[in-house]
Amino acid sequence: MRQTNYDKLDDEQRDILDQAFEALSNAYNPYSKFSVGAAVLTSCGEVITGVNVENASYGLTVCAERVAIFRAVAEGYRGFDKLAVIGKGENHDVEDVTGPCGACRQVIYEFSQLSESPIEVIMSNTKMDKVDVATIDELVPIAFGPRDVGVNLVPYRNS
Ligand code: THU
Repeated sequence: MRQTNYDKLDDEQRDILDQAFEALSNAYNPYSKFSVGAAVLTSCGEVITGVNVENASYGLTVCAERVAIFRAVAEGYRGFDKLAVIGKGENHDVEDVTGPCGACRQVIYEFSQLSESPIEVIMSNTKMDKVDVATIDELVPIAFGPRDVGVNLVPYRNS
């Protein structure tokens, strides 16, 4: 894992983090009041965003990262290079980076198996002066994946 900040990111990393931040204002979060924005970069260069979507039946909440990935899959993309995630409180910036929850890590890991290389995850605090960059393999050591159930997925080329 690499600890960095916005200014030291490359153009692609900065672009998806910017898009994740822009998306964040659309979070549907009347219960937690915590906003999360995510953006995935497909292997063919498209960027798809997601936000957290909550529900009065709290457990039905879906995180921003999964919304971004599932939206992308619905649009026909399966291979991803990078995913950015950023969080913000209702009336305060969060000091620490927002990292994907365990469920989202598992979903990112799944699609990493369809990607050319382990998906890079860019995790930022609200001000973007603290940014951690790690591969999904670093975030999910000893992962459970398709091979454990006898399925050998091959990288998917987005058209
Ligand atoms: N949340 C995300 O969207 N992504 C994460 O990785 C962690 C948590 C959302 C879910 C919920 O709407 C709010 O943040 C507080 O848990």
